[in-house]
Amino acid sequence: MTKKKIDFTNASTTFYFDAAFEYLEKITSKESTIILTDENIFAKNKKRFKGWKTIVIQAGEQHKNQATVDNVIGQMISLGADRKTWLIGIGGGVITDMAGYIGGVYMRGISFGFVPTSILAMVDACIGGKNGVDVGVYKNMVGLIRQPSFLLYDYSLLKSLPKQEWVNGFAEIIKHAVIKDAPMFKLLEQYKLSDFQKDTALLNKLIQRNALLKSKVVQADEFESGERKLLNYGHTLGHAIENDYQLPHGYAVTIGMVVAAHISEQYTGFSATERLVNVIKKYGLPTFLQFDAEKALQNMMADKKRFKNEVHYVLLEKIGKATVKPLTIEEIKKALPQP
Ligand SMILES: NC(=O)c1ccc[n+]([C@@H]2O[C@H](COP(=O)([O-])OP(=O)(O)OC[C@H]3O[C@@H](n4cnc5c(N)ncnc54)[C@H](O)[C@@H]3O)[C@@H](O)[C@H]2O)c1
Ligand SMILES: [Zn+2]
Repeated sequence: MTKKKIDFTNASTTFYFDAAFEYLEKITSKESTIILTDENIFAKNKKRFKGWKTIVIQAGEQHKNQATVDNVIGQMISLGADRKTWLIGIGGGVITDMAGYIGGVYMRGISFGFVPTSILAMVDACIGGKNGVDVGVYKNMVGLIRQPSFLLYDYSLLKSLPKQEWVNGFAEIIKHAVIKDAPMFKLLEQYKLSDFQKDTALLNKLIQRNALLKSKVVQADEFESGERKLLNYGHTLGHAIENDYQLPHGYAVTIGMVVAAHISEQYTGFSATERLVNVIKKYGLPTFLQFDAEKALQNMMADKKRFKNEVHYVLLEKIGKATVKPLTIEEIKKALPQP
């Protein structure tokens, strides 16, 4: 196990990498803790949850809403949770987003921590303190920024993670590498998904690198004014096509990354699109979609990250280095791949 403490503006988070689930008992006690998890994770880990007060919710993004939050809070009240109770979210990003939100508002805030069980949660969702729920079709419309007290990484939990979810999570890993970490990009070129699935030491190296990369970006810019925007690479277009084409998030992001790489060629002289495309393909993710550009632009204009008539587009200068460029809708339209 490797322990690392990261200080944020108002709080610090302790990371326990390559730890055992059972180590939870060293961090908190069973009596003063409530676990929040979903039905899939609970079903695969019944023994591990023995003796812990556990609230199990239905799996899936469609349950990441205020109705579920109210239901969980009702159960917490029944279980006698008070200001000293710890809430631990054990699951993918849906669970960690909700556990962080509930932890932030229950009795005006109690301590909370996460045990991420999906690749996406390990490298992205559980880091940075953003949490919240969806309101109708509007994703993450309500929530707060509040850091978890701890994150515990037990890679044996990934044994039951469906292949599709491994693939989905690797989209964010490729994103991290291409915007900030050229040596990690090389690592991704050198190995393939099954290598990481088979070799826990190799996986640990990759996950730690990603978790610390995101933590450092957040640390530098907790409330998202500059550096943190780089994490949005591939997401401007990704978000604009994800719902309309019913794409898994990772798919939308890699399609968006390739389009952003092409736009980069025009604005920064980026010249490694082919290397990026090859890595995306190798990890089983898509690099192209025939989409309705007009509709995508409309969606971009409706995005909460828009600034007046401009979109802060994240572009690549080279592998491992990204930059933000304000582009008008007309400029984006011109730069999009023509049908
Ligand atoms: N807060 C942030 O900064 C941030 C960043 C990125 C994404 N997110 C959020 O994360 C969510 C997506 O996260 P996700 O992809 O982990 O989704 P998820 O939590 O829905 O998990 C995906 C599926 O895998 C199952 N699963 C998870 N771990 C498993 C395991 N070990 N074994 C078997 N099944 C398992 C879940 O039950 C679910 O069906 C979205 O709601 C998104 O908004 C938040
Ligand atoms: Zn994403």
